[in-house]
Amino acid sequence: MIGTDGLILLPGRLDRAAQRALVRDVRDIIALAPLFQPRMPRTGAPLSVQMTNCGPLGWVSDQAGGYRYQAAHPETGRPWPPMPPLLLALWREIGGYPHPPEACLINIYGATAKMGLHVDADEAAVNAPVVSISLGDTALFRLGGPKRGDPTRSFRLSSGDVMALTGPARGFFHGVDRIYPGTSTVLEEGGRINLTLRRVNLQRA
Ligand code: SIN
Ligand code: FE2
Repeated sequence: MIGTDGLILLPGRLDRAAQRALVRDVRDIIALAPLFQPRMPRTGAPLSVQMTNCGPLGWVSDQAGGYRYQAAHPETGRPWPPMPPLLLALWREIGGYPHPPEACLINIYGATAKMGLHVDADEAAVNAPVVSISLGDTALFRLGGPKRGDPTRSFRLSSGDVMALTGPARGFFHGVDRIYPGTSTVLEEGGRINLTLRRVNLQRA
C-alpha cells in the first residue's frame, strides 16, 4: 500500500524463511558488534531498546555526544559489520533512491520496550527514504505529521512487514507505543527486532 503522504506498507513482504534468514544475519552482526544501550543526550537516561548497526555508518547516542552517525562501534571501536545482501536488495526494490543505504540501525525490543515519538533528523539525505523491517513480536506503531502535536494514526507492524517512510512521511513524527508479547515464534526468546535502512550523506564523500 502506498499512501499519498509517502507511507509505503508492505505487510508480509518477507516470508518466514526470509525472516529466519534475516534473524540469523542479525545474530551474526551482534556477535561482531555487540548490543549497546543508547542514552539520551544531556540527561543520559537510557532508551528502552538496545541497539547495534551494520553498514558503513551506525546511529549511536550517549549523554556526552548526543545523536550521531559514526563509522565505529561505540564500545569496541571496530567498524560495523557489512549490510546483508537481502537488505541491500530490499532498499533497491523499495527505496527508489540512486545511492545505497549507509546505515542499518538494529533496535531490539523486549516485552516492555517502546520508542517515543521522534523524527529521523540526523541524516543530510532528507530526501532518501527510511526503509523499516520488522521481525518477531508485533508492535503498535504510531505515525503523526510534520509537527509534534499533529494528529496521529496507529497500526500494527508484524514479523515480515516492510514499511518505508518516503516523501512527506519521511519527515513525520513516529514511534512505537508497545510490543505485543507472544505474537510471533520467529524469535525463540521473544521480543522484536526492527531494522531501519538509512542514507546519511547526500553523496559518498
Ligand atoms: C525507529 O523509528 O527507529 C524504530 C521504529 C520501529 O521500531 O518500528
Ligand atoms: Fe525513527
